[in-house]
Amino acid sequence: MNELKLAAPAKLNLTLDILHRREDGYHDLKMVMTSVDLCDYLTVRLRDDGKIHVRTPGTDLPVGEDNLAGRAARTFFKEIRQAPGVEITIEKHIPSQAGMAGGSSDAAAVLRALRELLRPDLTGRDLEAMGERVGSDVPYCVRGGTALAEGRGERLTDWPGVPPCRIVVCKPEFGLSTPELFGRVQTEKLRFRPDHAAMYAALLRGELSGVAAQLVNVFEEVLTPREAKTIRDIKMRLCRCGAENALMTGSGPTVFGLFQTPEDARRAFEELCPLYRTFLTRPIPGV
Ligand code: C5P
Repeated sequence: MNELKLAAPAKLNLTLDILHRREDGYHDLKMVMTSVDLCDYLTVRLRDDGKIHVRTPGTDLPVGEDNLAGRAARTFFKEIRQAPGVEITIEKHIPSQAGMAGGSSDAAAVLRALRELLRPDLTGRDLEAMGERVGSDVPYCVRGGTALAEGRGERLTDWPGVPPCRIVVCKPEFGLSTPELFGRVQTEKLRFRPDHAAMYAALLRGELSGVAAQLVNVFEEVLTPREAKTIRDIKMRLCRCGAENALMTGSGPTVFGLFQTPEDARRAFEELCPLYRTFLTRPIPGV
């Protein structure tokens, strides 16, 4: 076997809290992430010339090792001290720079594929440790499912999954730079922080309305008035169509709404589709 096809699911943040800025410039976080069935699809094929090729047809995303997927392959080869080379083709569906970890999920899928093709003895923890060297969200993407992530994002604890529901995801046009957004945060000034005990309890009860009530992302507090207006507009439309609640995911600007019924979700999808890049999705268990 020298080729694998696999899916790389997007993630959404149910919570995101920033605890403090660290000496190394990163921030200690506490956040709950969950996988959804909106996926990129990868073909990972081994080569025999030592080269790393990344292709993302139809996009202007970087190729080779400037792409996180290429960096994941390089990290994997370095770790196993063997570099046969690889060709990675990514069919993109997850919007980029959207707070949905599209690039990190592609990188995690490359690590999983290379393990299967070259070193099936490596554990999930081994892969998560490699992922940490590729990017802060990569360890979570290796694991998938619903998890609490702490530290830079690499300390993971499995949490109960999101109860069955429909999720409408909306990506406005503007981009938000993750480092810039982190730079705007003064942790001592944050007013609304997630209650992780309450979120855990709601997930354990399998109660969507309880989960929805606990959605908090502190990045929403540091948006400019103009950015905040768009986020508010999307949230309002989602909630008017029957969403239990809505939240910006990660460092944004994507907003998602949680729906009890497929009918309400479909209505929201149809209302938002002409205005924003919109997807209808649902939670999935770990990869
Ligand atoms: O690790 P990654 O390259 O994905 O992080 C992108 C940027 O996000 C970092 O350069 C840093 O500015 C910021 N970041 C942070 N604290 C984290 C994760 C990311 O400050 N825990």
